Amino acid sequence: MKILIKNIKSLVQVEEKPRLKVSGAEMKKLSCLENAWLAIEEDKIADFGSMESFPGISDWSNLQVIDATDKLVLPSWCDSHTHIVYAGNRESEFVDRINGMSYEEIAKRGGGILNSAKKLADTSEDELFNSAMKRIREVILLGTGAIEIKSGYGLSLETELKMLRVIKRIKEKAPIPVKATFLGAHAVPKNISTLTGFENLSGLLQKEKYIDLILKEMLPQIAKENLAEYCDVFCEQNYFTKEDTKKILSAANKLGLKGKVHAEQLSHTGGVEAGLDCNAISVDHLEFVNDNDIALLKRSETMPTILPGAQYFLCLQYPPARKMIDAGLAVAIASDYNPGSCPSGNMNFMVSHACVHYKLTPEEAINAATINSAYAMGLSKTHGSIAIGKQANIFITKEMPNYSFIPYSFANNLIETVIINGKLIIEN
Ligand code: NIG
Ligand code: FE
Repeated sequence: MKILIKNIKSLVQVEEKPRLKVSGAEMKKLSCLENAWLAIEEDKIADFGSMESFPGISDWSNLQVIDATDKLVLPSWCDSHTHIVYAGNRESEFVDRINGMSYEEIAKRGGGILNSAKKLADTSEDELFNSAMKRIREVILLGTGAIEIKSGYGLSLETELKMLRVIKRIKEKAPIPVKATFLGAHAVPKNISTLTGFENLSGLLQKEKYIDLILKEMLPQIAKENLAEYCDVFCEQNYFTKEDTKKILSAANKLGLKGKVHAEQLSHTGGVEAGLDCNAISVDHLEFVNDNDIALLKRSETMPTILPGAQYFLCLQYPPARKMIDAGLAVAIASDYNPGSCPSGNMNFMVSHACVHYKLTPEEAINAATINSAYAMGLSKTHGSIAIGKQANIFITKEMPNYSFIPYSFANNLIETVIINGKLIIEN
């Protein structure tokens, strides 16, 4: 099967010489080919060029031709941070927040992550799989072509394994690449039946017991069954400290799982430093990142990742994304799709919010949501740009003047056609 897309108004994010990520001032550059064609063979990008030097079609067999006059073609978004396997929703907590309660207050009374853990414990693997696959389909139609998915609503050995097995099934079934992250250290479980015997311990001791369980039982089992590529920790007050984070990530490293950190989201807790000490692939959220963290990040290969949807939905202060790029850092954008802090996986919105509020230019935001977010899940050799030999995961927009229209025309449906692995997924 071959696809030829011709008369493309602008082929966006083309790379003659593929890069793993883009940093600092380079992020302002977005290489585009105007009036272009793109050829796809099987599941890969075969070639591209300008219509002026179009070689013509010599072999029409098995060829589908798409005319993209006045439309743009982009590489699919790469979403390097999601929690899309979950049970139920938390709209009542959303209403509680409108009425004045904080995310922290809701968590303290047993809501938040623990609320989702309770719901997940009562939901079958099949139900979890089916609801997550619906969300996968939904985000593919919104332009996402690679995704990372975390566990973390299990919080016991059995339920964390259950989540990771569901993620494994999604990996096998979904048409887009899926990276699995073990997030056992998402919250400390309290009084849940699966941890009988822990109920009478003080909060601190419960946490120590739980970390022990992560280190001695969960991580070894997950590594043995090869259920995750990454290990993540929610480094935050009332959750896990910088020291806890280092302990968990170094144990994960020894078992071959690279680190990720939920860092500096609600306060400055040292998550970035912990991540850097353990050579994490990314540190995510970063609303409370400070100048020292920025200086340390500059000396590392770790990808600072902002999650505009969670900042928006929890009404947090803005991450200093502009400052980070101006300091020479690379920045990635992901959605954080989850039932508590971001019940949306729409990467078009994430890109727009980063432009409007954090003052990223459209070029920076598109780089952040393609090549840099591919890097944040180890996929930038195969995804995140238009380059010969890369996976043919792309989308064709509706008619529009240029790529700045994507963040400009916020919350509108701008995607007309999605191609995944060289196959047409939808044409509106
Ligand atoms: O990335 N910050 C921690 N974890 C999620 C929220 C999880 C939840 O509220 O269910 C996040 O924002
Ligand atoms: Fe998250």
